Amino acid sequence: MQIAITRGVSPSMDSCELTFLERAPIDIARAREQHAAYEACLAGLGLHVISLPAEPGFPDAVFVEDPALVLEEVAVILRPGAASRRGEADSLERILAAYRPLRRLRDPATLDGGDILRAGKTIYVGLSARSNAAGVQQLAAAVEPFGYAVRPVLVRGCLHLKSAASYLGEGTVLVHRPWVDAGAFAGMKLIDVPEECGANVLAIGQTLLVAKAAPRTAERLEQLGWQVRLLDNSELAKAEGALTCCSLVFTAALPPS
Ligand code: GLY
Repeated sequence: MQIAITRGVSPSMDSCELTFLERAPIDIARAREQHAAYEACLAGLGLHVISLPAEPGFPDAVFVEDPALVLEEVAVILRPGAASRRGEADSLERILAAYRPLRRLRDPATLDGGDILRAGKTIYVGLSARSNAAGVQQLAAAVEPFGYAVRPVLVRGCLHLKSAASYLGEGTVLVHRPWVDAGAFAGMKLIDVPEECGANVLAIGQTLLVAKAAPRTAERLEQLGWQVRLLDNSELAKAEGALTCCSLVFTAALPPS
């Protein structure tokens, strides 16, 4: 079965990290509604959603993708680039230990899960404001024994690699070229997004979760044959978060006990 780990919106999300955005007031109640709709969408697609309680002490903790990477064989506890986020992994680690053997990145590595774009056995890692070369090296050491190849990709003008590009499956990458060196994806089919906020898409099988703020991206993907679910994530976007950031999706032999 497929599992999605999510976490409630922190009451302190207004104090989140921001790198490329100006701070704007966040309507926490509305953010919670949008997040609940996201979880409902995942559940409707057949995923078992493990919804963790909000973390008042960690404004960005709703973005569960950033502290961990879950592969079929192993889970890697990452080391987020923002010091304020380094404690977010603790609760995830306890859950992931039930499903996978764990590896951990250590200082001086920094690496946010938002900088990881996985396409089969190839793992692209954004070199960004949050993720460094030591992070790439330590991740490679953790996952290469399982047959993965790790490739660094230059990112510019946006927070994470997956702000700029998403893997849709079937050798296809959705990309906003001004923010990423698209040459890194040589050999893949590239689809250019008509709106920059459309480049972050969560693929669940043949269904793509697309931001409501990116209707032309949704239309293009539908024309290309994908099923699209539009989700309003406007409040979470003010916290510089996107759709992939809000879940850790992986397969497990059994549901949680
Ligand atoms: N606010 C999301 C992040 O900066 O990590």
